[in-house]
Amino acid sequence: MTNEPQHEQENKQQASNEKRGADVAHPFNEEAWNRETYEAWVQRFGTPAEAAERIARQPLKSLSVLGEAIGSPEGKRIMNLMGSNGSKAVALSLLGASVTVVDFSPGNQQYASELAEAAGVKLNYLISDVLRLDTQEFAGTFDVVFAEMGILHYFTDLAPFMKLAQTLLAPGGRFVLRDFHPVSTKLISSRGTTAKIRKHKVDGDYFDTSLEEQEASFSKYTEGESPKVLLRKWNLGEIVTAVAQNGLRIVSLKEEANLSSESFDRGIPKTFTLISIKN
Ligand SMILES: C[S@@+](CC[C@H](N)C(=O)[O-])C[C@H]1O[C@@H](n2cnc3c(N)ncnc32)[C@H](O)[C@@H]1O
Repeated sequence: MTNEPQHEQENKQQASNEKRGADVAHPFNEEAWNRETYEAWVQRFGTPAEAAERIARQPLKSLSVLGEAIGSPEGKRIMNLMGSNGSKAVALSLLGASVTVVDFSPGNQQYASELAEAAGVKLNYLISDVLRLDTQEFAGTFDVVFAEMGILHYFTDLAPFMKLAQTLLAPGGRFVLRDFHPVSTKLISSRGTTAKIRKHKVDGDYFDTSLEEQEASFSKYTEGESPKVLLRKWNLGEIVTAVAQNGLRIVSLKEEANLSSESFDRGIPKTFTLISIKN
C-alpha cells in the first residue's frame, strides 16, 4: 500500500499509460493513417451516401462473422476500437446499438461521420490513439468492445490494448477480437488468384518477433507514393495469452477459412474470432 493521495496515484497511472501508449503504438503508423484515408474509402466504397445505402439494405449481412460474435446489438452500448471508416459501427447503429468508435485518423472520422449522417444514425467518433484514450469517462460502460481485421500488428506489446478492452467493459461484457490468422500472415505466402495457378509456400517464421515495414492496407486505393506502416505480427499463442492475462475469460476461439475464396484453399486458416468476457 502507498500513502500517496489518490489523485497523485491516478496522475502517475495516467503518465505511465501515456508512456506505454507511446512505446507500443508506433508514431510512424499514425502518420500513415492520417494521409488520404477519406479519398481511399471513396475509391473503395463510393461516397458515404452510396455506402450508407448499401449497408442500410442489409446491415446484418455487412457485419459478416461479427454479427454472430457480437450477438443481438439492440439496446447495447458498443465500443469499436480502431473502427476506421465506421462501416461496422454504422451497421450496428442501424440494428439498434449505441456505438462509439475510437481511431486516430481524421480522414476516417470524416468518412464515418458522413456515413452515419447518410444512414440517419448517431455515431460517437473519438479521434485518439486508443492507448492514450482518457478512460475515466468510459471505464465499465460498454456491453461489447470489439476490434477487427488489421488490429494487433500495430502494437509492440499486446497487454495495454487487452487491458484497455477489459477496462472499458461493464462486468459481464463481451470482448470480440477478429483479426487475420497468423498462419496466413506469418507462416504461409500465397500467389495466384485462381485454383489452377494458386500456390502456397510455407516459408515464414511463425516465431519471428521483428517489426516489418509494409504498405498501409488502404494504400491500394490511393495514388502516388504508398504510405508505409510498421507491423509486429503476433502468433496465436501470444494473442490468446495476452487476453487471458488481462482480466478476460476466454469463451471461444474460432479459426476461419477464407470466406470469400473457392474451396481450393479453404483448408488454410485466414482469420480468427476470439471471444472473451469480463467477469
Ligand atoms: C486496418 S484498419 C482496421 C480495420 C477496420 N476494421 C477496417 O476494416 O478498415 C486499422 C485502423 O486502426 C487505426 N489505428 C492504428 N493504430 C491505432 C492506434 N494506436 N490508435 C487508434 N487508431 C489506430 C487506423 O487509423 C485504422 O483505421
